Amino acid sequence: MTDELARRFPAVHFYNPSLVEVQGDVAIGPGTRVGTFTLIHAGARIGVGCTIGSHCNIHCAVLGDRVVIQTGCHITRGVVIEDEVFVGPGVITLNDKLRGGPLTFPRIGRAARVGGGSVILPGVVIGAGAVVGAGSVVTRDVPEGAVVLGNPARARRA
Ligand SMILES: CC(C)(COP(=O)(O)OP(=O)(O)OC[C@H]1O[C@@H](n2cnc3c(N)ncnc32)[C@H](O)[C@@H]1OP(=O)(O)O)[C@@H](O)C(=O)NCCC(=O)NCCS
Repeated sequence: MTDELARRFPAVHFYNPSLVEVQGDVAIGPGTRVGTFTLIHAGARIGVGCTIGSHCNIHCAVLGDRVVIQTGCHITRGVVIEDEVFVGPGVITLNDKLRGGPLTFPRIGRAARVGGGSVILPGVVIGAGAVVGAGSVVTRDVPEGAVVLGNPARARRA
C-alpha cells in the first residue's frame, strides 16, 4: 500500500507502508506515526501528532491528539481516547460483555496513562489524568487522577 498511503495521508509517517493496512473512511492527523503490521479499520478517527505502535488493531474508534498507543494494542469499536493519553504495550479494550446486552464502549480521559498488558472492560470510563497499573483488569470506572491496579483494578492504598 506504499503509494496509496502516501497519497491518502501525505503528512503521516508509516514506518513500513507496505506492511500496514488502513481501510477506507479513516482520518489520521498530520504528524502521526504508524508502526508495522498495524491494521486501522474503517471509520477510525486519529488526531494529530499521535504514535500508533506496531502490531496494533485499531477498530472504528476515536483517538484525540498526541495520543500514544504502544505496540500490540487492540482498540475496539466505539472506544474514545482523549488527547495526550498514553496506552502501554499490549493493552486490550473490550465492548461486549458476552451476556447478550448492548455493546458499551470504554472512554479514556485526557492525559490518563494505562499500563502495559491491561484489559479495559466494556463501558468503563477512566478519568482524566488517572494511572492504571500494568497488568490491571479494569472493571469499574476510575476517578480522575486516581491510581488503580490489580485484577480487579482497585485504588491503591496510600
Ligand atoms: C502502578 C504503578 C504506577 C505504581 O508505581 P509506584 O507508585 O512506583 O509503586 P511501587 O513500584 O512503589 O509499588 C507499590 C506497591 O504496589 C505494587 N504494584 C506496583 N505496580 C503494580 C501493578 N501494576 N499491579 C499490582 N501491584 C503493583 C508493588 O508490588 C508494591 O507493593 P508492595 O508495597 O506490597 O511491595 C506502576 O507500578 C505501574 O504499574 N506502572 C505502569 C508501567 C507501564 O506499564 N508502563 C508502560 C510503558 S513501558
